[in-house]
Amino acid sequence: MSREEEIKKRRTFAIISHPDAGKTTITEQLLKFGGAIREAGTVKARKTGNFAKSDWMDIEKERGISVTSSVMQFDYAGKRVNILDTPGHEDFSEDTYRTLMAVDAAVMVIDSAKGIEAQTKKLFQVVKHRNIPVFTFINKLDRDGREPLDLLSELEEVLGIDSVPMNWPIGMGKNFQGLYDFTNDRVEVYQPTDGERFVGLSEVTAGNHTLANNPFYTQAVEDAELLADAGNQFDEEKVISGQLTPVYFGSALTSFGVQTFLESFLEYAPEPHSHKTVDDEEIEPLNPDFSGFVFKIQANMDPRHRDRIAFVRIVSGEFERGMSVNLVRTGKQAKLANVTQFMADSRENVQNAVAGDIIGVYDTGTYQVGDTMTTGKLKKAFEPLPTFTPELFMRVQAKNVMKQKSFHKGIEQLVQEGAIQLYTNFTTGDIMLGAVGQLQFEVFKDRMEREYNADIIMTPMGKKTVRWINPEQLDEKMSSSRNILARDRFDHPLFLFENDFALRWFKDKYPDVELKEEFSV
Ligand code: G4P
Repeated sequence: MSREEEIKKRRTFAIISHPDAGKTTITEQLLKFGGAIREAGTVKARKTGNFAKSDWMDIEKERGISVTSSVMQFDYAGKRVNILDTPGHEDFSEDTYRTLMAVDAAVMVIDSAKGIEAQTKKLFQVVKHRNIPVFTFINKLDRDGREPLDLLSELEEVLGIDSVPMNWPIGMGKNFQGLYDFTNDRVEVYQPTDGERFVGLSEVTAGNHTLANNPFYTQAVEDAELLADAGNQFDEEKVISGQLTPVYFGSALTSFGVQTFLESFLEYAPEPHSHKTVDDEEIEPLNPDFSGFVFKIQANMDPRHRDRIAFVRIVSGEFERGMSVNLVRTGKQAKLANVTQFMADSRENVQNAVAGDIIGVYDTGTYQVGDTMTTGKLKKAFEPLPTFTPELFMRVQAKNVMKQKSFHKGIEQLVQEGAIQLYTNFTTGDIMLGAVGQLQFEVFKDRMEREYNADIIMTPMGKKTVRWINPEQLDEKMSSSRNILARDRFDHPLFLFENDFALRWFKDKYPDVELKEEFSV
């Protein structure tokens, strides 16, 4: 297969969801269809820590870094699929957001009983900003959930994206009969009495199936007719540009509707896209020169080892083992010798990685988040990765006042690398750190101690709502204990509001002051 054909068959995406919506369960199912894991339960076991150590990749065993679950790769229907993990719970960090910079599509998993939850909303906003396609899977149909029509309107109202159902549930919970799959002209039967899962629509319509007289089926057909008249029409271009999300219903736990979803997703999900450089030049995946960018650095949490893995999204060309690349930030050459690839079925299955794929480069401190690596004629850096508005804050100071120098050096470098965000109190000059997830603080503290020999004291400030203020309207008297005035690292003034109540109070008091909820500074 030519390199061009290899690149065109790549489909790289992430699953975005709120914890417990079923991301792990659906990931397992997808891997199973791809033949990538022998039995479902492997990803889950890894998540809960019950995974047999012997099954881990060597690199994880030796260094205690969990990299295999960060990127999962498998083949299905002639496509090479890369799923990038976006950790939730306490692992949630800016890396989670940055991972979304490295994908070409996103799958949004929603719990049918809960609808759109907080974390889904945040992740969706990041994806929306990039205009990449979003495919929605509404999960847990085997349980009683909300009305499907209600869920669709929530997508439009809360997320502001148009939706188009690709199939429609026939009942739910105890009454779940299956899916009315009008796009494939068939019905997918939940618990077929005769063993036939897929039944042609014409057969049901002709009255040859028990479902024909089922009131839930009749209801589904009516709903679908209503949607066909009054709802959005499927439009591939709108899907690809992220304006319209195709919606699939199913039950990941019972592996129902997942394969139908996977096949449709692979039909419409885009192949690797081009990336812009700082000079506004689009680098196409088929460009023969290799290029890529680091979107995440996974620090080793084991204190005996200082090594890390830099995750690189390949933008163009092909990675070859041992190749040398130009690290644009430093202008130096770096040899990509110790590299992990992520074929989930076996370690032996090493093939060259091409545009669209992710490689994990063993790193002893050479790389930073956002770094561009190139070969040949390509010399320019890709556009910088955005920074994300943090929600959690800590006051930080050096434990030992004699070690101010290493303290400041550590902070400067870790902030530059994108590990954490730096703010200073406008009046007192106190240093405050911002993060999107708690784990970022822990990693920061650990790295300050190990890499910069700087012991620190961190005092939690809790959650804050950040708003940038127009510098011309700034008056120090506006700040109080409920809205701390601070500067970001580019010296832009902002307020850290205690909560939304404090924000509303401020807006009432200073109605003319412009406040910006900026996605990037
Ligand atoms: P996450 O990765 O998004 O956090 O979710 P995960 O897949 O771990 O699923 C969260 C819970 O929801 C799990 O139950 C899982 O079994 C359940 N679940 C996932 N998909 C479905 C579905 O289609 N139907 C139903 N009924 N449940 C589903 P748990 O009780 O937390 O774990 P377990 O003890 O069942 O393993």
